[in-house]
Amino acid sequence: GLPDRVTVYEVGPRDGLQNEKAVVPVEVKAEFVARLAAAGHRVIETTSFVHPKWVPQLADAAELLGLVEKVPGVRYPVLVPNERGLDRALEHGVEEIAVFASATETFARRNLNRTLASQFEMFEPVVARALENGLRVRAYVSMCFGDPWEGPTPVGQVVEVGRRLLDMGCFELSLGDTIGVGTPGHVTALIGAFGGPSRLAVHFHDTYGQALANTLAALRAGVTVVDASTGGIGGCPYADSATGNLATEDLVWMLHGLGVETGLDLASLVETSTWLAARLGRPSPSRVVQALGET
Ligand code: HMG
Ligand code: MG
Repeated sequence: GLPDRVTVYEVGPRDGLQNEKAVVPVEVKAEFVARLAAAGHRVIETTSFVHPKWVPQLADAAELLGLVEKVPGVRYPVLVPNERGLDRALEHGVEEIAVFASATETFARRNLNRTLASQFEMFEPVVARALENGLRVRAYVSMCFGDPWEGPTPVGQVVEVGRRLLDMGCFELSLGDTIGVGTPGHVTALIGAFGGPSRLAVHFHDTYGQALANTLAALRAGVTVVDASTGGIGGCPYADSATGNLATEDLVWMLHGLGVETGLDLASLVETSTWLAARLGRPSPSRVVQALGET
């Protein structure tokens, strides 16, 4: 069976805009976030409190949060890697954060400047202190299916990293296919290796065109939270060959076709993606935006 309802965890303003060559003006980001809430999104990952030299595209995180008019009932999580990031998030009234771990040694070093083992020493005080302050903490594991340097990632290695994050008290674990190499059988096997879908979300990049098929496999395994980016923008600057996330519009087309509720208005999302594409100076990679959007 399939779930009656799916929560779309929107990552466009964070995963999408972190990978743009040009820095998008902060006012455009604020309007993007407002449009996403107006289209029905109830969770919008807004920005990152990472090192501004590592991701200059999101160096305006504090200013952006000042511009976002929070809609009641909408969550605005931000990425936080370490205690310095948590301090910044707390200063700006953030109520939900996401920490992001790596399933592989090479990506831990490249993305976090840590070893696979020492990344947990960075996250432990962040999660503990965030929980003490009443924040909700989500966790990501990146490179769950494969890594550009190490090849396919052993399922057991992903489960080990993911379990440690859940045991710290994270309410949800998002399984990231950072470079989009996963296929549906692998998705089913990974969720099975976790012992089922409890507290799991999925985060697919569409590099090899597998994101929708992988999502369907995850839904069939019982997952009800799916990450996506409006317009299909995104990618990780520290992962070679990472392209855009699963496009929210492509996901919503499939879910509504299956009779699964999302609370999202597809026409508003397409209009927003068309608007954003004009600001970014290139068309959206989403097939649904291409089919339904005005050009
Ligand atoms: P580091 O160089 O090891 O940091 O970077 P450090 O702890 O040694 O600190 C060095 C200096 O940076 C210090 O300043 C800190 O205060 C400062 P100094 O004392 O020398 O003057 N600093 C900070 N400043 C502002 N905000 C901070 C911060 N932290 C330290 N948060 C670090 C380690 C983790 C900070 C760095 O590697 C980093 O920022 N990495 C983030 C990379 C990133 O954002 N990647 C993209 C997101 S992950 C992703 O896209 C995957 C995902 O979508 C899922 C998927 O697709 O799989 C989530
Ligand atoms: Mg990602």
